[in-house]
Amino acid sequence: MKKELIELRVNGRTHELAIEPSKLLLDVLRQDLDLTGSKRGCDDSSCGACTVQVDGIPMLACTMLAASCEGQEITTVEGVADHGSLAALQKAYGDFGGAQCGFCTPGFMMTVKWLLATNPEPSEDEIREALSSNLCRCTGYSQMYQAVRAAIDAEQKGMKQELVGAK
Ligand code: FES
Ligand code: FES
Repeated sequence: MKKELIELRVNGRTHELAIEPSKLLLDVLRQDLDLTGSKRGCDDSSCGACTVQVDGIPMLACTMLAASCEGQEITTVEGVADHGSLAALQKAYGDFGGAQCGFCTPGFMMTVKWLLATNPEPSEDEIREALSSNLCRCTGYSQMYQAVRAAIDAEQKGMKQELVGAK
């Protein structure tokens, strides 16, 4: 099939790529850009392992054409780290055992990142609701909920310290 030239913005960088117009975003990320954090866990849009953010909204990269994302800002799990250091959420996942085999973790992180950006103090029910479209076969979820809660507490503590420092 004839290839087309497209420009994709991923994790703050612009990439010029020659791809087939029918190529899925997940395949472009993994095969053309070597960003293998996003995973393919199913064939029917049901697991959420491929979740990335497109203009800040969690989307399934396994169902989107890469060409349809031109002009939008794509963020993958590789873009979550804070200037090369682990973000609070990543640290909390490690501390609380939120990741076991880790296959689902990139997709969960992208959904949680969206949740905390749109609702910095979610209730337990809101956390569960937000994560309901991502599936994990290992953790039983409670460690993940604990990790998300710890990340929220760490963010709030950091914000309070910044306010005290600003006085
Ligand atoms: Fe399962 Fe995309 S790979 S929803
Ligand atoms: Fe293994 Fe979630 S940690 S699938």
